Formats: sequence, structure tokens, C-alpha cells
Amino acid sequence: MLKIIVVTEGAPQSGAASVHHISGADESPLRDTEGRLIIMSELTAFAQLLFVLVVGMYFFSRMRGEAASDKSVKEESRIKAEELNKLRRIRLNEPVTEAARPSRSDEIVGQEDGIKALRSALWGRSPQHVIIYGPPGVGKTAAARVVLEEAKKSEGTPFAPDAVFFEADACTMRCDERGFADPLIGTVHDPIYQGAGACGQAGIPQPKAGAVTKAHGGVLFLDEIGELPNEQLNKLLKVLEDRRVMLESSYYSRTNKKIPTYIHDIFQNGLPADFRLIGATTRRPEDIPEAVRSRCVEVFFEPLSRQDIVRIVTETAARGAIAIDNGVRELIADYAGSGRDAVKILQAASNTAQMEGRASVGIADASWVVKAGRFKKRREPFLKENEKIVDISMFGKNISGSA
Ligand SMILES: Nc1ncnc2c1ncn2[C@@H]1O[C@H](COP(=O)(O)OP(=O)(O)OP(=O)(O)O)[C@@H](O)[C@H]1O
Ligand SMILES: [Mg+2]
Repeated sequence: MLKIIVVTEGAPQSGAASVHHISGADESPLRDTEGRLIIMSELTAFAQLLFVLVVGMYFFSRMRGEAASDKSVKEESRIKAEELNKLRRIRLNEPVTEAARPSRSDEIVGQEDGIKALRSALWGRSPQHVIIYGPPGVGKTAAARVVLEEAKKSEGTPFAPDAVFFEADACTMRCDERGFADPLIGTVHDPIYQGAGACGQAGIPQPKAGAVTKAHGGVLFLDEIGELPNEQLNKLLKVLEDRRVMLESSYYSRTNKKIPTYIHDIFQNGLPADFRLIGATTRRPEDIPEAVRSRCVEVFFEPLSRQDIVRIVTETAARGAIAIDNGVRELIADYAGSGRDAVKILQAASNTAQMEGRASVGIADASWVVKAGRFKKRREPFLKENEKIVDISMFGKNISGSA
């Protein structure tokens, strides 16, 4: 049975309530004390109740879902932050190869002419772009780094004391075929690729600086410059001329008020990219495009002699506080083809000595390293310094066929 109380305002018996009892058997329409029809039936009341319940449950479950996802995002970020801090607390000792790196140009062995040419290119009020040729591991990168530090102190230099040395490898700087990401020159992240990010949703293209902008005000050291594809090389040359990078995007509009001012500035005036380029290559000059060569001072680094390697081992051991026995540097010099090899062998031999409880690196340690690492014995020049070939003959016959 449903009991409905109807109160009618302004009725003579104001404040009085009429009470109606409805039972399943009572099919007659309900009327209040003034005879008006009451349209509320059991069915509509039930439907309303159901509606309120369903809507209530929907919002309740949504709120619970959001609260749960908020909680799990917070928990996830707490775990990730903890993992990151844990990684940051772990620090290994710096290897000798890092700690004993040359920090002055007079510590670069056997490259006196190259260093002089490099210094004069970067020195003073108008430093120039440079390309360094030379075999692997003979000090090209190390020299460029220390010479920039010295050039920063030269009279009238445009390099600020904190000018960057930005090192990049041309092999890893290649842009993908469609040009969506160009780590050398810079890229625009168009909204279509940004997904649900704030800028993506607002339809704002986002410029991303490349290596040329990161090197702004300093040096861009581009290793293996000869490996850079032509298309990127041409873009790089354009940047060298303009000293800025102009970016384009079909999503950019000058009149779009949603785009922040700094992004308008970048699209209209370009990203700054005023730097000096030092390209390094193990290739020959004729393998490098003329357009690059003509804009750069060319500097040549030489293969290192046996004496140079002996000196590198001696000085690196001193800088790295490694004690070595007599004969070790000569043995290393017999097998190291470059300065990098020499430092590598020394580091490994020092680890071996330490592992076996010896305070000083012995011949046995270095021998074991060159054998285990399959280093090839260095080939001495066939001719002594005061000798030269005047004729070549085989089995008594001159191979030029002249005798
Ligand atoms: N001429 C050198 N004098 C002193 N140390 C050197 C010399 N050459 C190489 N080394 C040592 O070897 C390490 C590696 O050298 P570096 O990276 O400068 O060689 P690179 O010529 O740039 O080689 P790559 O062509 O492979 O890039 C240096 O950090 C330094 O410890
Ligand atoms: Mg290098």
C-alpha cells in the first residue's frame, strides 16, 4: 500500500494535509481535498527513484575510478622517483681514460703542428670554422676540447667563459627519412604527433632545438663529419651562413592567438645558432665535400710514433696515479696503434694488477692484456729516417721493366 500526503498552499484549511491511501485494489484516480487530480502513480515514482539511483551510481563509480587512477598514478610516480634516486646514488669511479684525459694543449703528444693550427684558428676576436683530419684515437677530440678552453682566455675572444663545447657524432645525427626528427638542425613537433600533450590538444606546433642551437655561442664538435648525408650537410652550411635556424610547420599561423609568444618569435625570427664548427674526420680531404672544405681551416693530425706512445703512457699513468714497472711503457708502445689504444691497455693492465694484489703494473699484466685483447704488434716503418727507395727489383729484374 502507498500512502501519499498532499499539502495545498492557500487552501482554506491551509497547512492541513490530506492523506490518501492507495492499494492495489484502489484503481480510482486520486484527488486532493479541492478535487484536483494527483498524477503521481506508483510506476512514475518508481521510475524516478530508479533514474536517481542509476545516475547516482554512475557518478559515484566515476569518482571512485578517478580517485583510484589518481592514486595509482601517484603510487607509480613515487616508485619511479625512488628508482631514479637509487640510480643517482650509484656512482662508479671514473676510469683512467676519463680522469687522465689531457687538460692542456701541451699534454697532447705528437701533434705540435696540428695544435698550433687549431689554436690560431680559434684564437682571438674572429675564430674560424675548422676541419681536423687524422687517424682514429690520435687526440682530435681531446685537442679541440682543450684548445677551446685556452681560446676562451685569448684577447678579444667572442667566446664567453662558459661557452659550450657541444660534441655530436654525425652518424647519430642523421635525421629520419621523413624529416620528423632532425637532432642536428632542429625539428618541429607538430600537434598530430604530440598526442594528448597540452600543446598537442591545443593544436600548437612545438619547436625543438637541434645540436646547432645547443652549441650557440660555443663550438659544435662534429665527429665523423664525412658521414653526414648531403642533404643535412647543405642545411648545416645554410645555418653557418645565417647563424640561425628557420623552422616551418603547416600547423603554424601568425594569427593563431593560442600559440605562445615565444613560439611566434621562433617561427618568425628563427632559433639562434651562432657557433664555430669543428668537424673531425678519419677520411682524406678529397672525400669531404668542397663546400665544407672551403668554409673551414684545414688542420692535420698525424699518426703517433712509438716514442709518442711511450710518452702518452708515461703521462697518463702520472695523471691517473698508476705505478708502472720498467719496460711496461715500451711493451704497450709495441702494441698500441693509437693514443686511445695506449690508454686502454694501461687501464686494463692496471685493473689486472689490482685484481692480483700488485701495487704496480708489471710486464706480465701488460703482456696478458695485449694477448687477451688480440692487439697486433706495431709495424715499424720499413725505412729508417735517412733512407729512401731508389729502385725496386725482384729476382734480379727491375719490376718497372727498365732493366
Ligand atoms: N696525441 C695524444 N696525446 C695524449 N693523449 C692522447 C693522444 N691521442 C689520444 N690520446 C688519449 O686517447 C683518448 C682518445 O683520444 P681522442 O678521442 O681525442 O681521439 P680522436 O682522434 O678524437 O679519435 P676518433 O677519431 O676515434 O674520434 C684521449 O682522451 C687521450 O686520453
Ligand atoms: Mg674523436
